[in-house]
Amino acid sequence: MTTDRMTGAYAHQVALLVLALMVLQACGKSEVASKPAVEAASAAVTEAPAVAKAPELSIDADSFRCLTDMTAIRHFFVDNLLGDLDATIAVAESTDGGVYPPGSVVQLVPTEAMVKHPPGFNAATRDWEFFELDVSADGNSIRNRGFVDVVNRFGGNCFACHIKAEPKYDLICELEHGCDPIPITREMIAGIQAADPRCVE
Ligand code: HEC
Repeated sequence: MTTDRMTGAYAHQVALLVLALMVLQACGKSEVASKPAVEAASAAVTEAPAVAKAPELSIDADSFRCLTDMTAIRHFFVDNLLGDLDATIAVAESTDGGVYPPGSVVQLVPTEAMVKHPPGFNAATRDWEFFELDVSADGNSIRNRGFVDVVNRFGGNCFACHIKAEPKYDLICELEHGCDPIPITREMIAGIQAADPRCVE
């Protein structure tokens, strides 16, 4: 259940409670609840805070594509599964961090991806889901996915490294955000990106 749905349900319960109390109070005075009181209580239901709600994501092997068909930001690539690419690019381009919008896909190499779920989906990972993919000319298959316990093929836990990024960077490591380093240079990374088998000429 998402936060805003909980908020809505909660507001509804509170409103019902208020209404019940008003009725009880009115009964004590041998009266029925006045019309304005009932209206005020139902207004509390309809005025529950309207939080803009991002749709839930359905992510499968087809959610991922050739890296170089994504949008290049410095040395990595981004996409947005909910069509909000501009918002994703704005955060990725910021050198001062920011919170990635729901639907964001971030990749450094073809076989590893991070995807952002709507707010409240997973508090521990700040709504990021980690993926390890198998890639070939035929496309992707998802080898491993999840939140705090996804381990890459070299035995490294994605979350354990990425959570070390300073909070303002929203779990994005780059080289100086505070994560443990990976044993491949940017030069090697560029080679791996250029060799993405999913990209057709
Ligand atoms: C040993 C720590 C470590 C592990 C384990 C690790 N990463 Fe990273 N990751 C990094 C570092 C450091 C970078 C930045 C490298 C660079 O910019 O040259 C990075 C970069 C990335 C990026 C590009 C955006 C960014 O954060 O800079 C993505 C996406 C990513 N990793 C996903 C994953 C996924 C998915 C897994 C698990 C399947 C994983 N990583 C495992 C440390 C790690």
